[in-house]
Amino acid sequence: MSAAGRVRRIAVLPGDGVGAEVVAGPVELLEAIAGAGRIELTGPWPVGASAFGELGTGLPADTLAACDGSDAMFFGAAGEHPGVSLDDYRPEHSIIGLRQRYDLRVSIRNIVRAGEGGGRPLIVLRNLLGGAYGAASTRTESDGTDAACDEVILTPDQITELAEMACDLVEQGLASSIVSADKANLMATSRLWRSITGQVAEKRGVPLRHTYIDRMAFELAHDDVVADTVVLTEGIFGDMLSDLAAGRAGSIALCGSASVNPGPPVQGRCVGLFEPVHGSAPRHTGKGRVNPSGAYLALAALLEWFPETAELGPPVTAALSEALQAGPLTYDLAPAGTEPAGTASFAAAVNARALPRLKELL
Ligand code: IPM
Ligand code: MN
Repeated sequence: MSAAGRVRRIAVLPGDGVGAEVVAGPVELLEAIAGAGRIELTGPWPVGASAFGELGTGLPADTLAACDGSDAMFFGAAGEHPGVSLDDYRPEHSIIGLRQRYDLRVSIRNIVRAGEGGGRPLIVLRNLLGGAYGAASTRTESDGTDAACDEVILTPDQITELAEMACDLVEQGLASSIVSADKANLMATSRLWRSITGQVAEKRGVPLRHTYIDRMAFELAHDDVVADTVVLTEGIFGDMLSDLAAGRAGSIALCGSASVNPGPPVQGRCVGLFEPVHGSAPRHTGKGRVNPSGAYLALAALLEWFPETAELGPPVTAALSEALQAGPLTYDLAPAGTEPAGTASFAAAVNARALPRLKELL
């Protein structure tokens, strides 16, 4: 049965390098969902260094118009592109530009473990704007003579919104507790963070443990923090911890990323950018060998973000978990001495498990 509400429109932006390869399988699922009238799909739209190489801008006007007119962006990768020098175009430009345009101020990342079949992911929740991710006005560049400076500014409202969202995830049954990681033994912003996150969790009756960010890094690397937890932390800490958790899980491809505006849209109707956390992987581009798991996790997060499609997310995650458990796995996860699967054949294994489940719901 379909949830009542509007039909959400998704813009597909494959981006650079392996982006197009990893989104191909998930896009087949999106096409099936669109075929049943449950979403609208537009694209592929050019973005990133490849768009810069072709059109002279990483964020072409047609792409931005299509994103303004969509509820969410399904993004492949931003990175390098042959023939485009890093001096002319910085790969982070497109991602940061889209975050700012749509006020995508919160990042939610899901990290799964291969072979753990069906377990809940570890979630890293952080601010994406503000804090260490302040606007250009918080930065003082240096030509090498004077000091450089990056100001870290966090408001009580920003921290409250993040803490409430972490509690929402626990209440929705997506995790059973929160670990808040900060540097309250050093930074004023962390002391404010610690006091507000504690108050919000107490008010909501959600279990929350405070820890220092360095201890958190140790615990993640040591595998003490299991799935089923929301790691709630400042933007720059979460940037590092999400890569660390993916590394501990076995591959950067085991992390899906949602950058969202939890409030009303500020530009058109777009409120989210959903992508695998890995970049464009220039060394692997065109070889059909990279792991598309992060793009599937991003797809599940996208579907779950909107009430109208929320029920369609878990079947995607379940299909991915099964395919990861059954193998064969892509080169990054394949046991030594086994023949790795390619991107397309691993995606086909996920889709063969996801499509029958989705069709029951469409
Ligand atoms: C990420 C990236 C970005 C970030 C960069 C490109 C600004 O590392 O999405 O994790 O730090 O958020
Ligand atoms: Mn990062």
